[in-house]
Amino acid sequence: MLSAKIDFNFYDYHPEPDDLTKEVLEGLSKSPKSLSPKFFYDEKGSHLFDEICKTEEYYPTVTETNIIRDNINEIVAYIGNGCMLVEPGSGNSRKVRELLDAVQPHAYMPMDISRAYLHKEADKLSCEFPWLNVHAVCTDFTSNVELPYKPKGPHRVAFFPGSSIGNFHPNEAIEFLSNIANMVGKGGGLLIGVDLKKNNAILNAAYNDRQGYTEAFNKNLLVRINQDINANFDTDLFNHVAYYNEEKGRVEMHLVSQSDHSVIVEENEIQFAEGESIHTENSYKYSINEFQDLAACAGFNAKKVWTDKNELFSLHYFDVI
Ligand code: AVJ
Repeated sequence: MLSAKIDFNFYDYHPEPDDLTKEVLEGLSKSPKSLSPKFFYDEKGSHLFDEICKTEEYYPTVTETNIIRDNINEIVAYIGNGCMLVEPGSGNSRKVRELLDAVQPHAYMPMDISRAYLHKEADKLSCEFPWLNVHAVCTDFTSNVELPYKPKGPHRVAFFPGSSIGNFHPNEAIEFLSNIANMVGKGGGLLIGVDLKKNNAILNAAYNDRQGYTEAFNKNLLVRINQDINANFDTDLFNHVAYYNEEKGRVEMHLVSQSDHSVIVEENEIQFAEGESIHTENSYKYSINEFQDLAACAGFNAKKVWTDKNELFSLHYFDVI
């Protein structure tokens, strides 16, 4: 059978792979102990995250998708046709599929640190959207990225959905957004999904789904550490704990030790006291005004914000002038 040869461009910046051993030992020697949420996403963890997104309690994914669908014409009017659409941390590029037909970008530039995954997803996307120019960039998107393809005409718009920005501490969020402002440049834009502050009960439920996917996702961090480096965590000795910390404006996830015990990580004995926690994630929540102020510190000018009728989630459009 004949099949069309679909082409896409692939630029490899050879990002330094994460040193899991070093970062795990560093995190566990801190007080309080912590591990970076970036380590959640091995194959199993990415699958568990997809399951979380389908639970009744975890509203962000569905709500954001509906906001995009319900407002697509207006969103396109703000983005403008023929732009270079850049997506830092594109993963499976699921949400951008909601935009592509309507936005008709000059090109789409997914960016991800995971080379094989990015390659596979860019290939799939090119087949699904044969008219689309795909320029995939393998890089650590949290660094200040110099774009490999900067055609003169089209303006650049960054897409950062899912409230991924919530994983950054507000100061780091400003730094990251400054890099994005710099990357899109004057005349550029940013379409970004941000989870809103709300009733504590809704937030607490979203990170404690009854089917237990969030718990499994949190504990899978220890499973993957046991698999990928020399460690012997017993996941049964840790409890999944997640709650909204109102004072700090963030949901915190922890793995709390049920007993005094020790774990061996690459020849190092790590002591855990009963009730001691490993802080595994922060997920900051922002009111519309708070987020607009934060983005302004990074050089972004607020143009428009869309929300759902229950004001659970926000989608902002900013430009750089
Ligand atoms: C992918 C970082 C946006 O913070 O809500 C979901 C990750 N953690 N359930 C979030 C997550 C627990 C998610 N982000």
